[in-house]
Amino acid sequence: MILVVGGAGYIGSHANKLLNEKGYGTAVFDNLVYGHREFVREGEFILGDLADREQVRLCFERNPIEAVMHFGAFAYVGESVTDPAKYYRNNVANTLTLLETMREFRVKHFVFSSSCAVYGHAEAMPITEEHISHPINPYGRSKLMIEEILGDYDRAYGIKYVSLRYFNAAGADPGGEIGERHVPETHLIPLAMQAALGKGKSLVMYGTDYPTPDGTCIRDYIHVTDLAEAHCKALEHLKRTGRSTCCNLGTGKGASVKEIVTLVKEVSGRDFPVEVAARRPGDPPVLVADYRKTQELLGWRPEKDMGEIILTAWAWHSKERNREKSH
Ligand SMILES: NC(=O)c1ccc[n+]([C@@H]2O[C@H](COP(=O)([O-])OP(=O)(O)OC[C@H]3O[C@@H](n4cnc5c(N)ncnc54)[C@H](O)[C@@H]3O)[C@@H](O)[C@H]2O)c1
Repeated sequence: MILVVGGAGYIGSHANKLLNEKGYGTAVFDNLVYGHREFVREGEFILGDLADREQVRLCFERNPIEAVMHFGAFAYVGESVTDPAKYYRNNVANTLTLLETMREFRVKHFVFSSSCAVYGHAEAMPITEEHISHPINPYGRSKLMIEEILGDYDRAYGIKYVSLRYFNAAGADPGGEIGERHVPETHLIPLAMQAALGKGKSLVMYGTDYPTPDGTCIRDYIHVTDLAEAHCKALEHLKRTGRSTCCNLGTGKGASVKEIVTLVKEVSGRDFPVEVAARRPGDPPVLVADYRKTQELLGWRPEKDMGEIILTAWAWHSKERNREKSH
C-alpha cells in the first residue's frame, strides 16, 4: 500500500487517482486544512495531521505501507516570508515526524514534492538539476532543507527517495472529477479562469517590462496528470534501482503571462479586464525546466501541452462555478 500524505489536495489527489488506476492500494493521510474530502474517491481516507506523531504512528501501525508520497505542505510563497515559522514547522518539522515514523516501521521508499523554488534566481535557462540551489524565500528553503535531510537519511538509514522539483502545476483531471481548488488562489491560470467566469473583478498582471519578448514573465506549466504519472515512475524507479535522485518536472517550454491570458480568452470565449501592476519583488523573468535527467532516469516525459492544460482547467473551473452557484 502507498501512503499519500496530502492526497486530498490538488496534486496529491491526481496522484492518488492514478495510483489506484494502476492497481496500487492507497491510504490518503490529510488534515484537510487545504484539502477536500471529496477529492479522495479511491483508497482509504485517514483524517490526520503530521503534527500529531501518534496519529502518524497509528496510520503506519494499521496499514501495510510500503512507500510514501509526500505532498503535504504549505505552499504560499508570500506567506512564507511574513510567517516563516508556520512554514518551517509544517514543511520541515512535520516532515521529520513522517520520516522518523518511516524509520520506525522500516519503510524505505519516499517520493517528495519539491519545487523549482529551490533554485532561486536561476542563472542559466533551461534549469538543470545541477544548477546551484539558492532559494530566495522560506518556502523554497523549507523544500531544500528536506532535500538535504533526505540525503543524510539515505546515507545513515537507507531511506531511498526521489525528490521531484515541480515547475508550475496546472490543468485538471480530463475526466472532470478533480481539479485545482486552492483557497485562497494565487496561481495565474485559475485566477484567469475566475476572471473569465466573472468571479473577481479583473486579472492582475505583475510587470510588463521584463526582458522577455512580450515583457511579461515566462513560466513552465506542467499538466497535473503528467505530474501524477511522474510520481508513479519515481516509485517504479525506487523499486527497480533502489537509488535516490532528484528530478525536474517541467515541459522545457515556457508560456508568458500575456500568452496565458490570450489562450484563456480564446478557450473560454470570454473577454475579461486585465490590470497592469508593478513587478513583484523576487519574480524572475523566466523559469523553464530542463527535464532530460528525468527522462533518462525515470523514463518520463510530459505528454500534455498548454492547449490541454487550458481546456481541462476551463472545464473544471466552469464546473466549480456551477457548484458554487448552487450552494
Ligand atoms: N501547485 C504547484 O504548482 C506546486 C509547485 C511546486 C511544488 N508544489 C508542492 O506540491 C505539494 C502539493 O501542492 P498542491 O498545490 O497540491 O497543494 P494543496 O494545498 O492543494 O495540497 C497540500 C495538501 O496537504 C495537506 N496538508 C498540509 N499540511 C498537512 C499536515 N500537517 N498534515 C496532513 N496534511 C497536510 C493539505 O490539507 C492539502 O490537502 C506541496 O508540497 C507543494 O509545496 C506545488
